[in-house]
Formats: sequence, C-alpha cells, structure tokens
Amino acid sequence: MQAEVNQNVVVYFDNQYVPLGEARVSILTHALHYGTGVFDGIRGYWDDKQHDLFLVRPQDHYQRWKTNCGILRVDVPLTTEELTEITVELVRRNRFQSNLYVRPLAYKSAERIGVIPDDRNAFAVMVVPFGDYLDSRKGLHAGVVSWRRIEDTAIPARAKICGAYVNSALASDEARRNGFDEAILLTEAGHVAEAASSNIFLVRRGKLITPPASENILEGITRDSVMELARKELRLEVVERPVDRSELYVCDEMFFTGTMVEVAPVVRVDHRPVGSGQIGPVTAELRHLYTQAAHGRLEAWRQWLMPVYEPVANFSVGSAV
Ligand SMILES: Cc1ncc(COP(=O)(O)O)c(C=O)c1O
Repeated sequence: MQAEVNQNVVVYFDNQYVPLGEARVSILTHALHYGTGVFDGIRGYWDDKQHDLFLVRPQDHYQRWKTNCGILRVDVPLTTEELTEITVELVRRNRFQSNLYVRPLAYKSAERIGVIPDDRNAFAVMVVPFGDYLDSRKGLHAGVVSWRRIEDTAIPARAKICGAYVNSALASDEARRNGFDEAILLTEAGHVAEAASSNIFLVRRGKLITPPASENILEGITRDSVMELARKELRLEVVERPVDRSELYVCDEMFFTGTMVEVAPVVRVDHRPVGSGQIGPVTAELRHLYTQAAHGRLEAWRQWLMPVYEPVANFSVGSAV
C-alpha cells in the first residue's frame, strides 16, 4: 500500500503547474459518473550512482495514451514531446530523487447529468513517489477469478479506460479475499487474458508464451520491453498465442509484467506450484535485465530512457507555480 500523496506536490492541471491540493474537479464531472476517462502509467527510477532519474519509455506511453484517448474521442491537444517535457518539468519542480510513478489522465469534463458525451475534454499529469506495488521477491500466488475479462465488443481492454478498471477492481478484490496475491482473468471463451493490472507470460519447453492482443489484454509496454529483452538478450523464442487455463498448471515458469509490478514471478497458481515452485531461471534473468535496463545500467537499452536531471533544452509549456 502506497502512502497518501502530499497535497503540496506540484501537478499539471488546467494547463498550469499547481499544488495537488488546488487541482479540483466538480462533483458533476462526466468522467466521475460514467468512467469516461483514459489514463496511463509511467515509471521513473532514481539511480544513486548516476545521480539521475530515468523515465521509462515516456514517449511510447504518451503515444499509447493519445491513441487510446481517440477510442473515447477525448482529444489531448499536446504532442508526445510536449507531454514528456511537462513530465520532466514536474519531476524537477518537485525535486524528486526517488522512484516514482507518472499518471496522465484525460477525461470528459462536462459538468452535467446525462451519459451522452460532448467535446469538452480536460487532462492532467500527476507525478508521485512510488515504491514496490506488490512484494514479489519470493514470488506471488496467483488465482484465476470468477470474473471474466471485458470483451473488446463492450469496453476495449487495449485502452486504459477508467470505467474498464471496475473489471480489474472486482477481480483483484476477489483474489485478495480468497488469499491470493493477484488475480488472473479469463476471456469469455475461457482463454487466459491477463492479470488485474499486468500482462502474463509462461515459460514452457524453452519458449516464452504470452496471449496476443486479440485476447482482450492491455497492450503493455513492459510486455513489449520484456519480449525484446527475451529475443535480443536471451535469444529466446517468444510466441504470442492463446493460452488455456490448464496450461497455467503445466508450465515451467510464470510471471507478470507491468509498469507497476515490473517483472513479478508467480510461483503458485490456484494452490498448485508453478514448475518447481521456485522462481525459475528465465524469469530471474528477465527480471534482472529489466531492472538493469530501467535504471539506465545497460547501454544497449538507454534509448528507452529519458534522464530527467541531465540538461534538457527549451522548456516552454505551462506557467510557474
Ligand atoms: C490491465 C492491465 N494489463 C497490463 C498492464 C501492463 O501494461 P504496461 O506494461 O504498459 O504498464 C496494465 C498496467 O498498466 C494493466 O492495467
């Protein structure tokens, strides 16, 4: 559980840098009633040795966010470069020197009753200090829940649509109450989709396997990073294909990926050991590689990172607090 955020933390709201305590919306806001917002999540890692903070793939996250806002016809009137500049500026203004999480949120902002959306949109960017989301050092116990993953024909899972996260909240609540660390959701067809807030990977017969985008998953950026690391650093074959529930019980290794969970090993599923019941070698290697890459310690993957405290030219967006 993360600590409450200090109300003096500077956020970007209404085209200005303001303290969190002053960033307020009306109780009648459309998105609050109808879930008509789209968010994203970006990690920043502080590295003591390099005395710098690295944002992980900020432009890719902002590109996904803007594209997916289009599904809900919410317009974000800034480029991915401008959004990244705002994020760098927020980290600098708050003088953060710790791991953190960036939360961009765009939403239908009309203040009235009635679900039919109009063209009034707003967006905000928040940056908060953030440690580990799940303690996965010893490996997690995951459970398949009774809730099914939302279908693309109802609410597209590939976008981080606010209202869609009721599905994740119901799933993780059920999993926690039943003694599991995290929920795994099946599609209506009974295939494995993903966890409540992360993508899933299996290792079986030397291959890395993950459900494809058409299985109602969020197209995770960590998922993409891990697939690249597996192919290029470990020379592993990566297969995107449907996964049956029972394959969870016969695979050799399992892990979740996500901005929040990073690479989180799963050592038990539905009260059965995954493989040997210990964190597997492929999972351990990928977790190590991802951590090193995200902290700016692997030259080959530095292109994923935006250093915050290295001089960045021409800050132009927004006004001073
Ligand atoms: C439902 C869901 N799946 C997967 C992910 C992982 O996506 P990413 O790696 O882009 O954070 C997230 C987290 O953001 C999520 O909410």
